[in-house]
Amino acid sequence: MKFLIGLIAGLIAFPIVAAIYFLGGFAPAAVSARAFPFEGIIAGGALEARLHREAPKRDLSSFTTADFVAGAQTYRKGCDGCHGLPGQKPLVPKMYPQPPELFTPDGYVTDDPVGFTYWKIKNGIRMTGMPSFDGVFSDEEMWRTAALLASADKLPSQAMDILKQPMFPPGAAEQEKAGDSKTPVK
Ligand code: HEC
Repeated sequence: MKFLIGLIAGLIAFPIVAAIYFLGGFAPAAVSARAFPFEGIIAGGALEARLHREAPKRDLSSFTTADFVAGAQTYRKGCDGCHGLPGQKPLVPKMYPQPPELFTPDGYVTDDPVGFTYWKIKNGIRMTGMPSFDGVFSDEEMWRTAALLASADKLPSQAMDILKQPMFPPGAAEQEKAGDSKTPVK
């Protein structure tokens, strides 16, 4: 009986405490705030479970150099500003979560099945800045970009050449320099 009363009291108290925490302005909301309790487990766990259920499978070895080159071109159109390039930092200011730098050893997704990465590109990642590219790029473009990222540590030089081009066209950098020299020295 005591147990039952305790259980019911607990069931009533939990949503009240949670409501005060979230609606009372105690939960972190700013980009630079720390994660709220269990945030990682809730968000990451749901995504992981979904990927296992739903992500399609494809053999990475079926992708050719031409696929990686096409994937690099798509990456340059839709991704580099947020996720960076080999040797070049992303352009985005602070975000939460911050987009991982997908061409650094810390950010590589080379251990993930290529289908997981394809799923993330197609569907985006809810409650993060990761957009869905469904309808923006074709299915094959998304697969090739996923294959590119799955092989990020061992890409053919033809794909690397595309990824190594500067993020701004050279003209833009020159203009910026010219602008700087016009600012008065004194
Ligand atoms: C507006 C910024 C933005 C753009 C543009 C963007 N992403 Fe993301 N992406 C994010 C953020 C933020 C995350 C982190 C999500 C998280 O922490 O769960 C992310 C996560 C990912 C992940 C998961 C990384 C991991 O460690 O599991 C992959 C893969 C990815 N993005 C690929 C891409 C590709 C490919 C493109 C271009 C077609 C792209 N993203 C465009 C912001 C962006």
